[in-house]
Amino acid sequence: MVLLKWLLCQLVLFTALSHAFTDYLLKKCAQSGFCHRNRVYAENITKSHRSYYKLDTGSIAHDPLQNVLHATLVKTIPRLDGDDIAIEFPFSLSFLQDHSVRFVIDEKERTVANNSGLSISPQRYNKTWQYAFDEKFRNKVLNKTNSPELHFFKQEHIANSLWSKLSSFLSLSNSTRDIVHLQNGNISLDIFTEPFQLKIYLQNTLKLIVNERSFLNIEHHRTKQENFAHILPEEITFNMFKDDFLYSKQDTLPLGPESIALDFSFVESTDVYGIPEHATSLRLLDTSQSEPYRLFNVDVFEYNIGTTQPMYGSIPFMFSSSATSIFWVNAADTWVDIKYDAQLNKTMTHWVSENGVIDVVVSLEQDIPTIINRFTDLTGRPFLPPISSIGYHQCRWNYNDEMDVLSVDSQMDAHRIPYDFIWLDLEYTNDKKYFTWKSNSFPNPKRLLSKLKKLGRNLVVLIDPHLKKDYEVSDRVISENVAVKDHNGNNYIGHCWPGNSIWIDTMSNYGQEIWKSFFKKFMNLPVNLTNLFIWNDMNEPSIFDGPETTAPKDLIHDNHIEERSVHNVYGLSVHEATYDAIKSIYSSSDKRPFLLTRAFFAGSQRTAATWTGDNMANWDYLKISIPMVLSNNVAGMPFIGADIAGFAGDPTPELIARWYQAGLWYPFFRAHAHIDTKRREPYLFNEPLKSIVRDTIQLRYFLLPTLYTLFHKASTTGFPIMSPMFIEHPEFPELYGIDDQFYWGDSGLLVKPVTARDQLETEMIFPPGIFYDFASLNSFINDGTDLMKKNITTPLDKIPLFIEGGHIIAMREKYRRSSKLMKNDPYIIVIAPDAEGRAVGDLYVDDGESFGYQRGEYVKTQLVLENGHILKNDPIHIPENLVDIHSDTLRNTNIEKIIIAKNELQQNLKLKSYVAVKQDGKEYSFPSKLSYENDHKIVILNPKLDITESWELII
Ligand code: NOJ
Repeated sequence: MVLLKWLLCQLVLFTALSHAFTDYLLKKCAQSGFCHRNRVYAENITKSHRSYYKLDTGSIAHDPLQNVLHATLVKTIPRLDGDDIAIEFPFSLSFLQDHSVRFVIDEKERTVANNSGLSISPQRYNKTWQYAFDEKFRNKVLNKTNSPELHFFKQEHIANSLWSKLSSFLSLSNSTRDIVHLQNGNISLDIFTEPFQLKIYLQNTLKLIVNERSFLNIEHHRTKQENFAHILPEEITFNMFKDDFLYSKQDTLPLGPESIALDFSFVESTDVYGIPEHATSLRLLDTSQSEPYRLFNVDVFEYNIGTTQPMYGSIPFMFSSSATSIFWVNAADTWVDIKYDAQLNKTMTHWVSENGVIDVVVSLEQDIPTIINRFTDLTGRPFLPPISSIGYHQCRWNYNDEMDVLSVDSQMDAHRIPYDFIWLDLEYTNDKKYFTWKSNSFPNPKRLLSKLKKLGRNLVVLIDPHLKKDYEVSDRVISENVAVKDHNGNNYIGHCWPGNSIWIDTMSNYGQEIWKSFFKKFMNLPVNLTNLFIWNDMNEPSIFDGPETTAPKDLIHDNHIEERSVHNVYGLSVHEATYDAIKSIYSSSDKRPFLLTRAFFAGSQRTAATWTGDNMANWDYLKISIPMVLSNNVAGMPFIGADIAGFAGDPTPELIARWYQAGLWYPFFRAHAHIDTKRREPYLFNEPLKSIVRDTIQLRYFLLPTLYTLFHKASTTGFPIMSPMFIEHPEFPELYGIDDQFYWGDSGLLVKPVTARDQLETEMIFPPGIFYDFASLNSFINDGTDLMKKNITTPLDKIPLFIEGGHIIAMREKYRRSSKLMKNDPYIIVIAPDAEGRAVGDLYVDDGESFGYQRGEYVKTQLVLENGHILKNDPIHIPENLVDIHSDTLRNTNIEKIIIAKNELQQNLKLKSYVAVKQDGKEYSFPSKLSYENDHKIVILNPKLDITESWELII
């Protein structure tokens, strides 16, 4: 039977190689018991206008010490005999950070009969936050949250002081409803007890309504026998105790129906974003006539485009254009319906998870960057990667042996194509046994690593969490009892690349330790070899003969936790343990890890980069890669890219050129290809393609100082690296739907990659201001107050790329073979003045590889141009021990060349014909060479100017 299933699966996968992803492997909402039940419940409740949930007013208690409000939420199931059933759910609410509210609804302890034979915990899983939240929040359980000040009023207080104000303000029809009003700084909140509802305000403006539509539904525990009595009139019983979907019929559903659901209405907005990963537009689709968005980590080879189907990663975080966000802290299979109402200027959403608790963090802010900042404060900042890892990565499934790797390495140099990482996919292993090398192909990994190291290059190898049965690694996992179990408590065996495999249980602390110990042995290299890094693939987990390509939901993890409860966070537990392993192995050299994961959850950004999985080499996948990368960028996980130039299939030369030109802007810039495709390392291309690709990759390297500065900003504030236009220009409603044109962070670089065949012209959209074509620095002005559309010619070697006036870009301009070899090169500064002759740019510099920056070993400066000719440098941070570390780590912090782009308005600005430096109010002439190219002023400084010092240059 298992074999038959496996064969069937192989067939499906094989078919998948030639077609797009086989949809029928995945459930539609109507085939998923809990999704369908909740959609029907929502429909019926809309008609009946009833609600069965109320907060018991008498139970409301405020714990002033912990600043938490506790209460009991009661669900009443009416019975004809009048013997209604009341189910209690503990409710707690607190303020988190300054502008966030967190509430949790659990189910009162669930008891199951002694003889139930259950091998899982009957309690709802309520620990997802411990994986998702950053360490600094992890140690605080909900009721230890530190809140500055919480004003708590019960109804009687409201009646005295606030009642009249509130009831007119909220236009309450039923003025006898109990309301609990809470205030914390700018945020206030009304809790309506019956029916249960929350209204959340920022500075007294209503932003979010929770349970406005009464879709709140918690399928409380009951046995199959008593089920009938526990059903509400609006409920259906579809697949409550069984699963009749073709591929998951085996699901034992040991606890029956357990789903949770709640609706959220975003007020004053008809644009919502987030909840990656989906191959759809950046602005989320209205799903009222289609499938809901699904968050469920699965392996979707050649996934379909434009659908709300689940993909490899899940971040249950959504925000609106009105800067309000929801973080649904749940790692179970989750579906989200979205309905825009233009008339009411509202977005109504409905969230449904298969089990677990309702644990929600709502944030209200003045703008979207602050929303993302809050979210990455809570779930952790994106890690600051080694600078080499934001260079170019050359990957394919597979480089066959050491010779192959070294020949790619030398060919790249021979053709002057810079790169930093070369990758080994699956086939480097001995018989797909991870933590081993195929000895005849890679007889001496240390030799390979030390050869690569000479030019500062790195090697990434793939290690997946499925482990082939019967070899020392899997044997140890079994003997240490840290394999994921089936529902009977036996080690689960499924099929993946190696055939029969087991899965490491990194949800267990001990499992993590064992996992780390494998890396310790595998990466036991000479101390000077710290250029080996890891790729965790297939960690959704992907299981070829599993339901929906993944793990059966009734598998069991450590502590009697069902896979059903933690599915979406398993991949994170794998890559976090891997990250910790690399970090500790390299601790003596203080080297920062680089790690790629395919599955992700909220919090994954702390330790890993990701990519958009198995795309195809055609134009549609190039086009969709941009909104996909943008979506992750606004959901706190910016280090992402798509396989260039499409994983499956052979791309045309034109597609290759355009894909590199788009991929250059992905935070993660990697070429990758399926094992069945033709070789396509860039030096193999004919001209002019080869030169186009080389120039593109070189441009990425020239821009590394700016990109690294953006990575630094992301690692401190969560600010997107590939950033939607509405982040920079929230004032234009039209920009909220744009996802084919974007900025690079706040650098002012504005790009619209060409993503269609034969496209020799593209229409770009420009906010008011001056825009400089990046290649020529020629400018044009949008002097209106509105957006302007303009056609840009796009011959094959041209990227539609502009610098917005008002920005300064730091670059390097010498071709070097890798990022490491650029370290000693001085900077060139490109200045794009605005209409007032002003421009600003940040520059962040550290050693690019160690954790020294966490000890203050970095330089951060801001360059400011005033009146078109005064350039000031004011370091914001320089290390205390600058002199000691300067030559060793920071290396070059000098500016050698300054280019001031010319614009039509500059006639009015004072332009100098000499360069002077100002000190103590006096001007001294500064040794330099001045020249003009197409009227753009070029200054070569000799001596160079150091950004670690304050200076003012008159140009
Ligand atoms: C699936 C990954 O998505 C792909 O990038 C990789 O090449 C294959 N696994 C083989 O390891």
